Amino acid sequence: NQNLTPYEAIGAETLSQLVDAFYGNVQKHPLLSPIFPDDLTETARKQKQFLTQYLGGPQEYTEEHGHPMLRARHLPFEITPSRAKAWIACMEKAMKEVQLEGEVKDFLLHRLKLTAEHMVNSPDSKE
Ligand code: HEM
Repeated sequence: NQNLTPYEAIGAETLSQLVDAFYGNVQKHPLLSPIFPDDLTETARKQKQFLTQYLGGPQEYTEEHGHPMLRARHLPFEITPSRAKAWIACMEKAMKEVQLEGEVKDFLLHRLKLTAEHMVNSPDSKE
């Protein structure tokens, strides 16, 4: 249905499952787990709020935390091109796990790739 927002097309329940599956993958990823807290409960809660508004749903993140300023909020962390790729890989895996498919999946993945690239604030270390 072309009148639905992407948030409505995905549905709150699937979005919540997607975020939980995603952080399960993050926790197992050797490049990502070191920069995330051990307990991802609060991180997942904020990400659900953020993705809700990112996809055209209620402005839950902004109501509780103010303007997202995502790049600024990520500056305390070393976000390298490899970590951005890893983040996207965890998300693509989560999309498969919750069987998010079709146009809405392609749309969300495309936007997340652009956002992830935008978060990069450090080069990969040369070895
Ligand atoms: C928070 C890493 C991309 C949305 C965080 C945190 C880390 C992180 C370490 C802090 C977690 C915490 O303390 O709870 C990364 C890395 C990325 C990435 C390595 C790779 C490019 C993204 C993208 C989005 C995003 C693409 C949006 C779609 C958020 C949100 C928070 C967050 C909403 C919570 C901010 C807050 O504390 O209010 N991220 N992130 N991140 N990230 Fe990312």
